[in-house]
Amino acid sequence: MFEFELRAATKPEWAEVAKADFDAFLQDHAACERKAAGLAMSMVQHYPDKPDLVRGMIDLAMEEMAHFREVIKIMLDKGLQQANDEKDPYIKLLLSTVRRNSEMYLLDRLLVFSIVERRGHERFHMMGEALEDPKMKDFYVRLAKAEHRHYTLFMKLAHQYYDADVVNARLDVLLDEEAAIVKQLPYRAAVH
Ligand SMILES: [Fe+2]
Ligand SMILES: [Fe+2]
Repeated sequence: MFEFELRAATKPEWAEVAKADFDAFLQDHAACERKAAGLAMSMVQHYPDKPDLVRGMIDLAMEEMAHFREVIKIMLDKGLQQANDEKDPYIKLLLSTVRRNSEMYLLDRLLVFSIVERRGHERFHMMGEALEDPKMKDFYVRLAKAEHRHYTLFMKLAHQYYDADVVNARLDVLLDEEAAIVKQLPYRAAVH
């Protein structure tokens, strides 16, 4: 009930580009997990009056931190350090669609984060298919399943706090925006 489809499928070339500089991909992936945990914790702080959101976001933050720990372990085992933080162009463009200073601010954040997790689900699944090393394959298959849970969690919360027609109308707009953003950005050795 909380599932949806993306409107621009990632092409198989993305996995090839990412695999061609897999160290850079891992560095970006680690940063994504750390930022996801941070965003979840910022939601915890902003909405103390919403217990289900607080519970869900604390669980999410802890899971994203566990993913961060796993990616960092993989990197350190390879002798690879974290890269300097860079703005993720995909996230930056998507967040620019959020209506600030309005009662729709929470809705827009929940939907944007849901779409980001939905895209993560798609791409980690593709990475799981594309990698040869069985351990790394399993890792990305497992992360793809986690992203599925995360995107439906955000959708569930959106439906809890807003009427279904309001949620669906905005999701429709944001999915078109996200598809346009994905089509305009070149593939990089990065999650987005
Ligand atoms: Fe994660
Ligand atoms: Fe996630």
